[in-house]
Amino acid sequence: MQNFKLISPLDMHLHLREGEMLETVAPLSAETFAGAVIMPNLITPVDSENRLLEYEKAVREAIRPHTFEPFMTLFFKKYDRDFLQRVKDKIIGIKLYPAGITTNSESGIKSIEEAAPTFSAMQELKIPLLVHGETDGFVMERESEFIAIYRKLAQTYPRLKIVMEHITTQAAVDFLDRYENIFATVTLQHVLITLDDVAGGLLRPHLFCKPIAKRPEDRDALLQAALHAHPKLMFGSDSAPHPIDKKESCGCAAGVFTAPIALQVLVGLFEKHGCLDNLQNFISNNAQKIYGIVPPHKVIHFKKENYTVPQKIGEVVPMFASEELAWSVDNFQH
Ligand code: DOR
Ligand code: ZN
Repeated sequence: MQNFKLISPLDMHLHLREGEMLETVAPLSAETFAGAVIMPNLITPVDSENRLLEYEKAVREAIRPHTFEPFMTLFFKKYDRDFLQRVKDKIIGIKLYPAGITTNSESGIKSIEEAAPTFSAMQELKIPLLVHGETDGFVMERESEFIAIYRKLAQTYPRLKIVMEHITTQAAVDFLDRYENIFATVTLQHVLITLDDVAGGLLRPHLFCKPIAKRPEDRDALLQAALHAHPKLMFGSDSAPHPIDKKESCGCAAGVFTAPIALQVLVGLFEKHGCLDNLQNFISNNAQKIYGIVPPHKVIHFKKENYTVPQKIGEVVPMFASEELAWSVDNFQH
């Protein structure tokens, strides 16, 4: 096959940041994706109506003139029902971070129990709950330990849509089928790499992210679920740009920058495994059904022609920097 196309690809988990970084990275997603779920963990989190509207405006300005829908989120805190009622049409969901678990999450939640009234109101108002599901346990076990919390949430709020963000384990893949109201996103790096790629040889800071990449059997389970477009699984890149001096430093920031190359890599990966027919569901249709959204119509053409990934984009090093990919975006096709 030499040509391939995707209709309205969606990135259901994306970090765009603010200021200069936003200006640099937003157009890269907006060129090839039809929309994305925009994460709220800015240095000052997006946790008020004002912050939300302000940030949405900045994002819309940064993506111009591309056709791209930013699906906004709020940073989880104890919101009351009146507030949620007022903002519910302006957001796709609310993102919960356990306090201190990752970048800019210091004001996250300390105890799930105290958030019960907010979960009830979200369930009633049909606002999805997006979760960074890691405990503060041993780094390799954080996600599997969190499954017990997902179970409690899924049982206590059976009509609340719960999205396990950026899953990294076989346990999370298995858990998808246990409860009707449980869904998940998976990143590009987690279907490709294991901890060995990050720290098995020389340390590779640009592959370091939270949750950390796990074991080969975890990676394989995630890859199979993606390749078969498990109907409860969506692509969410978790593309998380950090300037080079924050990555190549003592105290490396967590995040892999994949937005500019994710689609080309996915086309190559699905082709290699003979699963190209499933990519449309994984990249867009599943998310449309799960969230009940209709993204802008946008057709992205790909051609089988080598593409050399830039070494740096602005101050950020993308995944596969300086490497050759087998597929490139060809949006000038007739
Ligand atoms: O690696 C990560 N980077 N994981 C997260 O949860 C947050 C993200 C970021 O914002 O940099
Ligand atoms: Zn994230």
